[in-house]
Amino acid sequence: MDQKKKFVLITGASSGIGRQIAVGLSATFNIVLNGRNIEKLIATKEKCSTSNEQIILVKDLNDMAGLEEQLSIFIRENDIEINYFVHCAGYMKLVPLKMLTTETIITTLTTNLISAALIIKVLINHKLNDAALISAVLISSNISNFGAKAFNIYGASKAGLDGLMRCLATELAPKVRINSVLPGAVKTEMTESIFRDQETVKRIEATYPLGLGRANDIFEIVEFLLSEKARWITGQQFTVDGGRTINITG
Ligand SMILES: NC(=O)c1ccc[n+]([C@@H]2O[C@H](COP(=O)([O-])OP(=O)(O)OC[C@H]3O[C@@H](n4cnc5c(N)ncnc54)[C@H](OP(=O)(O)O)[C@@H]3O)[C@@H](O)[C@H]2O)c1
Repeated sequence: MDQKKKFVLITGASSGIGRQIAVGLSATFNIVLNGRNIEKLIATKEKCSTSNEQIILVKDLNDMAGLEEQLSIFIRENDIEINYFVHCAGYMKLVPLKMLTTETIITTLTTNLISAALIIKVLINHKLNDAALISAVLISSNISNFGAKAFNIYGASKAGLDGLMRCLATELAPKVRINSVLPGAVKTEMTESIFRDQETVKRIEATYPLGLGRANDIFEIVEFLLSEKARWITGQQFTVDGGRTINITG
């Protein structure tokens, strides 16, 4: 029987942290690049190593109804198996509770949390993916364990993602390891509006003992967590935020 080609699925691969993770992992792995924007996914592919393969999967993760079926068709049509999963897609709209709409709540929870559960469900399925999943890393946020004004539903989605991670770590062991990474502030499209004003940048920067982060700081830990070096690590949150959340300097 033919050995199927092994892949990492990365959501949010069209931009920011997810793009950097894709480019970094492409030196070692074949990658499925997921996002909604085809031009940006092609741009990620062009930055990836040519020594391995990249396949683009354009899919809006908010389209919950079609998600499981379309992912399983994609796996079958490409005759691949997905051994690793990095959930990096994220939606963040910061508004005070009084301005929070049902639409924002649903979009945030679907993109950040529910899609991760549905994707993992497909990846552990014998018929759909030969139950090939070995390890998953979910990109959460350092807000997950803390609170901040206007972060309401975004914070809840990331806390939910970490809860899902811990429960699945027990449910899917010993076959699958699953951990989450909780970044602090990294300059990307998502945080562009926050970083636009130099005064705000200075104020935020002052709260980070090691300064602001780079997308590559997140790639480094994701690569480690997916690797055999992390063989005894599951169900854990890894905060990577330059010391932001341990800093109580007045
Ligand atoms: N940057 C930070 O400071 C920071 C801090 C903590 C946590 N995080 C987390 O890190 C992750 C990456 O964020 P980033 O800063 O790299 O943001 P980004 O540059 O804005 O990237 C967000 C990614 O999510 C994808 N995405 C959003 N909605 C989607 C949907 N409905 N369906 C499919 N894909 C969707 C986007 O794809 P398209 O562009 O193709 O639509 C894009 O690739 C997120 O989970 C975020 O919450 C970021």
